[in-house]
Amino acid sequence: MSDLTTFIAGLPKAELHLHIEGSLEPELMFALARRNGIAIPFATVEEVRDAYRFSRLQDFLDIYYQGAEVLVRREDFRDLAIAYFDRAAADGVVHAEIMFDPQTHTARGVPFETVVTGLLDGIADAEARHGMSVRLILCFLRHLEEADAFATLEAARPWLDHIAAVGLDSSELGHPPEKFARVFAAARSAGLRLVAHAGEEGPPEYVLQALDVLGIDRLDHGNRSLEDPLLTARLARSAMTLTVCPLSNLKLCVVDDMADHPIDRMLREGLRATINSDDPAYFGGYVADNYRAAAEARSLSRADLALLARNSFLGSFLPDAVVAGHLARLDAYMAAQ
Ligand code: ADE
Ligand code: ZN
Repeated sequence: MSDLTTFIAGLPKAELHLHIEGSLEPELMFALARRNGIAIPFATVEEVRDAYRFSRLQDFLDIYYQGAEVLVRREDFRDLAIAYFDRAAADGVVHAEIMFDPQTHTARGVPFETVVTGLLDGIADAEARHGMSVRLILCFLRHLEEADAFATLEAARPWLDHIAAVGLDSSELGHPPEKFARVFAAARSAGLRLVAHAGEEGPPEYVLQALDVLGIDRLDHGNRSLEDPLLTARLARSAMTLTVCPLSNLKLCVVDDMADHPIDRMLREGLRATINSDDPAYFGGYVADNYRAAAEARSLSRADLALLARNSFLGSFLPDAVVAGHLARLDAYMAAQ
């Protein structure tokens, strides 16, 4: 292992932007398809990986929703989560706030309870074996109607003690945050924190709506905020956390080349940027791969990488005292370098 790889793996970090369905590796997809007697339109793992060529977000979403069809039983969601937590622990993740897309499953007749209990089984395993803390973020699919999101929030009511936040994902263009103003207000009233994907493919205006109409606590992606200097300054001033996903940005053509990635510019502009993996099984790497890809392409220093890790704890939904403990461990790690 290179020095940089070892340094990154040892750096304590939180992952704040991870879709659990996007951590479904082709090998597990085949195993679950067999277990559940579900046909998939691929003959081999290589064929699956070959299909992962995207020129925009929608290309990816079509294949990602198709892949999720092998998830049927509680054990499937548990096994999916355990596989992710094992990879994350190896990457130095000590805290993870993971998103799940209930509507992808309930629309196929898989009960909400099956999804959430399976994920909670996986979380219990991660806490026991890795000492990792985990929070769940329920994402609404923005290409579906507001009423569907409300029904999902209702289905989640019995489980709200186990859910930290709601989010907004799926096809961004044509589905602005304001479409979900009322359901986000209801989620806030239920005591949930709020996050939303905005400014991944959508314009800076969508980021403004996420801030002003939804009242988000954290911004997923947010890359296109940089097109608006006033918005950028506002995000920096308010210490809004951006969950940036470099390999995702490359695979979905949000950037043409990793050499053009704005991660260092975000830090220079004073943004509270973090590094995350989004959908690692589809985009070619887990969180440490994302740190390394960004570091190599943009010549990030170890101090920059430590700042990104620091931001991941500051941007988490953990209590302040717990954040302080993680920051102390991060400082001790850096002091020992
Ligand atoms: N769902 C899973 N990954 C996503 C992404 N990067 N953007 C929007 N929706 C998603
Ligand atoms: Zn995402």
